[in-house]
Amino acid sequence: MSFSRRVIDTPPYLFHRIDEKRKEAQAKGIDVISLAIGDPDRPTPDFVLKLMEEEIRDPRNHVYPSYKGEPDFCEAVANWFKHRFGVELNPNHEVMATIGAKDAVSHLPFAFLDPGDSGLVTDPGYPVYEAAIGFTGGHVVRVPLSEKRGFLPDLSEIDPAAADKAKIMFVNYPNNPTSAVADEGFFEELVAFARKHDLVILSDNAYSEVYFEEEDRPISVMKIPGAKDLAIEIHSFSKTFNMTGWRIGFVVGGKQLIDAFLTLKSNFDSGVFMAIQRVAARALGHPDAARFNRERTALFKARRDKIATALTEMSYRFQLPRASYYFWVRIPDSFKSSVEFCADLLEKQGLVVTPGVGYGPSGEKYFRISMTSPDERIDEGMKRLKEFL
Ligand SMILES: Cc1ncc(COP(=O)(O)O)c(C=O)c1O
Repeated sequence: MSFSRRVIDTPPYLFHRIDEKRKEAQAKGIDVISLAIGDPDRPTPDFVLKLMEEEIRDPRNHVYPSYKGEPDFCEAVANWFKHRFGVELNPNHEVMATIGAKDAVSHLPFAFLDPGDSGLVTDPGYPVYEAAIGFTGGHVVRVPLSEKRGFLPDLSEIDPAAADKAKIMFVNYPNNPTSAVADEGFFEELVAFARKHDLVILSDNAYSEVYFEEEDRPISVMKIPGAKDLAIEIHSFSKTFNMTGWRIGFVVGGKQLIDAFLTLKSNFDSGVFMAIQRVAARALGHPDAARFNRERTALFKARRDKIATALTEMSYRFQLPRASYYFWVRIPDSFKSSVEFCADLLEKQGLVVTPGVGYGPSGEKYFRISMTSPDERIDEGMKRLKEFL
């Protein structure tokens, strides 16, 4: 038996490795606290569950779904997009359902890259961007993000020859892991850059609804004139409605781009379970959605503020998260690497956080804390972090 280079050359998925370490420590009888994974601790809201109770019983929802997404799902997305981002989309051609954002992120590069091509990826970044480019046989060109630029890439620093050669560029604002947000000026610059270098922008907006202040409300790249012709934006219901296990998201973009992705995806899978699509479609326009969003924002803002207070008392260096679920924190100078810091923290205090290097070499001096654990676990986690110091 032999395995493909694709498998041999790809390290196990970051969170799978972290989970293994957590289980090992638990097997030794340690009460492990994990502030590593961005999976909301609260259940899917009741109004969504009630919608599912109706949809699951409808036999019309039990057959193969359409590859592109059901017309009512695409229509609901287009309506939400107009209301939320002020962008008009044609539901027939410019919206497509996906099995979560990860499905889109991991398969989109196959629509644009041939073996030997390259793709630009912000570093640090969600690890699937690099893995997916690697699976196509493509090369990853990392674009470093730095604290002093608010973790936005300096497009003028990218080697023009590398940009000309690249075919896609992944960006992700609100950003995992740094929690940075991007404004309209950045997206304008990005669209001009993509036009100049003939790139397709793959803009991952999975955290568009997880923000803390009105002035930081994330926008869509599709707001920029001409963006539809050269960008695909990726969305998710996972973070918006605590639906990580349901596996539903969508992509939007111009017809040509969506058609290319559809050619590919219709050969990979058979779409999203129709009952889930219908629930998601109805959830977007549901009267309880706004209330749920407000409550979720209040919960995470309170957690953010208490973690910020605790980290400041411990003299950790970080920027206050403006969106997403994460704190991106400098490791103390006494540690050589983020892996050493995280391994030591797990061994001595039974606390799991994510080593920054897992998101790329620019993350080496950082670790990531996720706010998606119950409050008492977060409090205990901060206590242990303090004792560790
Ligand atoms: C930046 C980013 N994109 C995409 C995803 C995947 O989201 P989904 O659950 O919709 O597949 C995640 C999940 O954590 C993420 O952090």
